[in-house]
Amino acid sequence: MKQISPKQITANPIDLIANNWMLITAGDISDFNTMTASWGMVGEMWGMDVAQAVVRPQRYTHEYIERLHKFTLSFFPQEMKRVLTVMGTQSGRDIDKMHYPGLTVVELPSGLVSFKEATLVVECEVIYKDCFKPESFVNKELIARWYPESDYHTLYVGQITNVWSAQ
Ligand SMILES: Cc1cc2nc3c(=O)[nH]c(=O)nc-3n(C[C@H](O)[C@H](O)[C@H](O)COP(=O)(O)O)c2cc1C
Repeated sequence: MKQISPKQITANPIDLIANNWMLITAGDISDFNTMTASWGMVGEMWGMDVAQAVVRPQRYTHEYIERLHKFTLSFFPQEMKRVLTVMGTQSGRDIDKMHYPGLTVVELPSGLVSFKEATLVVECEVIYKDCFKPESFVNKELIARWYPESDYHTLYVGQITNVWSAQ
């Protein structure tokens, strides 16, 4: 992996996140958790390159992000979808995600965690967080569609601190 600047990311971020999915990973090499996500954004905010992730409060990964307010976003080749499906349907409370076959853990120089199989890794430090609120939805149909259990996502805006690319 070589280090690149955030502005050198060439992939279409919507395609990458929505179709390819990503792993959100938080914690350190001795204790971390990871989960699949297909919602999020990358862009520019407050004069910084940022990535945004949305994590429902019941996710085990939510606890880890809350602890250190840092996370990585890892992107993989298509053939990893089977593993990402497991990471997105089972909780680290129930299976050992730190030693899952097919995911080789890598400690980054910053101490954050990603995986050898990733082709793009975006490291983030949370600079802003908030929960979506029902009263803030202009399109109220989204509430019934996505939040029947009122488990509103926490929005994390992360300043991009490092980017690693396999290419
Ligand atoms: C394709 C896909 C996308 C997902 N996107 C999100 C997301 O953006 N935010 C979220 O909170 N959960 C999302 N999930 C659900 C979590 O990945 C899932 O609940 C996971 O088991 C949580 O693991 P954890 O409890 O170990 O953190 C997604 C699941 C899949 C399969």
